[in-house]
Amino acid sequence: MHYFAYKRNNLFCEDYKLEDLAKRYGTPLYVYSAKTILDHFHKIKRAFAAIDPLICYSVKANSNLSILKLLIKNGAGLDIVSGGELYRAKKVKCPSKKIVYASVGKTKDEIKDAIKSSILMFNVESIPELNRINEVAALLKKKVKVALRLNPDIEPMTHGYVATGKGESKFGMDIDTVRNTILSQKAYSNIDIVGIHIHVGSQIVASEPFVKAIKKARTLLKDLKKRNIKIKYFNIGGGLGIIYDKERPQTAKEFAAKVLPLLKGLSCKVILEPGRFIVGNAAALVTKVNYIKDTPYKRFVVVDAGMNDLIRPSLYDAYQSIVPLKKSIGKKTTKGKASDIVGPICESGDFLGKKRYLDVSQADYIAVLGSGAYGFSMSSNYNSRPRSAEVLVKGNRAYLIRKRESYKDLIDKEIII
Ligand code: LLP
Repeated sequence: MHYFAYKRNNLFCEDYKLEDLAKRYGTPLYVYSAKTILDHFHKIKRAFAAIDPLICYSVKANSNLSILKLLIKNGAGLDIVSGGELYRAKKVKCPSKKIVYASVGKTKDEIKDAIKSSILMFNVESIPELNRINEVAALLKKKVKVALRLNPDIEPMTHGYVATGKGESKFGMDIDTVRNTILSQKAYSNIDIVGIHIHVGSQIVASEPFVKAIKKARTLLKDLKKRNIKIKYFNIGGGLGIIYDKERPQTAKEFAAKVLPLLKGLSCKVILEPGRFIVGNAAALVTKVNYIKDTPYKRFVVVDAGMNDLIRPSLYDAYQSIVPLKKSIGKKTTKGKASDIVGPICESGDFLGKKRYLDVSQADYIAVLGSGAYGFSMSSNYNSRPRSAEVLVKGNRAYLIRKRESYKDLIDKEIII
């Protein structure tokens, strides 16, 4: 469910007309719906209410401080992957005992900062990392809680670039390494292994990969239980897919129905790390048609947002729906002719959509829907383009939550020698 809909031929975000926002703040512009974000957060919360899990929103999906604050105020914790994300988490006063920290490449300084911040736990991805955390913890005279990330070696059934649960991927550790490390936990004097973590990939629409991965972890947890080793936390990661096109992803309720029976009897506190499911459908990237360009081969709708603003179509060949802000009323349009919606960037890979039937002409606004997750957070300054502004809509109010970058911002850190 999302709150982007047409009212009298104009696209609205909740009760705000998107065209008004585009005129007020300029384009390209990310517009978020607070109601959509909370609706999805509460859907997961309700679906898993029976076990009262800790829901750690995955910051990488969208790290805007106002969005983090909105979720924290509603009880979410945060899943972070860098010192920068820890900094953001602290800025919005996320309770430290609701922060979990994954990533295959944590540096000493990042580990030190996170220990000093008393986060709930690290999700550890390798033995060298475990050794390093142990060393840093010893220096700080702390005992540090960790979960070991299990690579369950299953088929995640998603795009190869975002599949993490295959044995060949760089993430987590194989089951024997995880088991042996827990059995030899005494070797790590400043570490308390309190959890098992899995995260098998992103935009997974079927339940099968989750079920397979959880079953593997469950075998391990049961084995440990038999040996009288108690593991307090089971972090089942994120990865729930959403609708971009014709996907029919499992709902939070269906997901819970498959997963909850597998979690019963483990007596673990469950942690979830959803990102896309919460924010994915909660934003539109609003952009203006700059030119309609006809060539002997095809028609291009050239807009003022490019792959630097939204890289998912270029990087993963991802489909996102593109619609006009105003449904046309009999004007000269591109109707009937398939167009590629492209940006101004000097690469042929710079497109937001291909072969779309869009009813627009020059100077019209269009919206790329489903841009809330991995949209702004993956944006860049490529081609020296200032990053776009972000606006959060709550009912009939709109708040600027990130100013548009200026040219000065682009060169601010540079040194002319
Ligand atoms: N937990 C861990 C350890 C992760 O690595 C991720 C995402 C998540 C949770 C959240 O996954 P989600 O619920 O959002 O699927 N840029 C790509 C997606 C990359 C996902 C990276 N890890 C895209 O635009 O499709």
